[in-house]
Amino acid sequence: MSSGSLSAFAHAFTMALDGHPRRISPKYLYDAEGSAWFARICELPEYYLTRTEISILRAFGREIAHCIGQHAELIEFGAGPSTKLRVLLDHLQTPMRYCPVDISGEHLKSEARRLKTDHPWLRVQPIEADFMRPFKWPAVRRGSGPRGRRVGMLLGSSLGNFEPDEARAFLCNVHQMMPGGAMLIGVDLVKDPSVLHAAYNDVAGVTAAFNLNLLARANRELNATFDVGRFFHHACYRPDERCVEMHLVSQARQVVQVCGYDFLFDEGETLHTETSRKFTISELQHLASSCGWHPGPVWTDVQGWFALQWLESQESRHLLHA
Ligand code: AVI
Repeated sequence: MSSGSLSAFAHAFTMALDGHPRRISPKYLYDAEGSAWFARICELPEYYLTRTEISILRAFGREIAHCIGQHAELIEFGAGPSTKLRVLLDHLQTPMRYCPVDISGEHLKSEARRLKTDHPWLRVQPIEADFMRPFKWPAVRRGSGPRGRRVGMLLGSSLGNFEPDEARAFLCNVHQMMPGGAMLIGVDLVKDPSVLHAAYNDVAGVTAAFNLNLLARANRELNATFDVGRFFHHACYRPDERCVEMHLVSQARQVVQVCGYDFLFDEGETLHTETSRKFTISELQHLASSCGWHPGPVWTDVQGWFALQWLESQESRHLLHA
């Protein structure tokens, strides 16, 4: 199928439906509705990830702030709500500026405004960009005062939603973009599959609504004819791959139109919408090391469900130990 002048979503979605197996990048789950559903997921009793990561930030905020150092330039990749940054701000010493990077410009700007209202002293410079591709850093204004190092943050286990080659490319690119810099990465750890199953199959059906919103989005934006009620959410843990896979499953044999093309779904046929990888600490450290990072301290919760890993670029290690 030719992509012509289709939007990125139209192109990705029609390519996914043309594929065998059918599979699309999880980034398309996050239109305005999808982001709102995800915000609700973060509040669910079963979805332990967000609150566990916040509890680690609260418990070890001082130590983390010590690693970050004074006058740092903080870059948050895929910045959602600023809750986690706010926890860190309680401990940080005069960060030089905070640059949240995200594709969703509107959301980014409104969050930046809120943060500025509560912390008028903080220089917030949002960057609207797909951080999986090279993007331009906003210049640092003259007279901005002393400048510490660049510290990247990828929180919420977003790394787990990348394909393994994407995760490596991301870590290598950031390493190159921030000579002498450091990274704080939050990852969900391998654990009892029943805990994972509950987290991605909540009783209230919020995760199901988040997943099914992809089809509703296709109806809204691509003139698609999905009868959303004839698909269901399926999420299962794959111990062989140490990941939770999320799918949309067709309840019946049916034909759906998208962008003017017909696509047949057999009963039980699925569209794979997300992979959520779970890590061991040594696996994460090994991956980071292969991209030039030197693993520093790791902070976890008492149950060992989630980890925050500190990474230093080799250059910054040399500077620190010179
Ligand atoms: C954003 N990301 C880390 C979430 C996760 O757990 O993989 C997205 C999500 N999918 C279903 N529930 C939450």
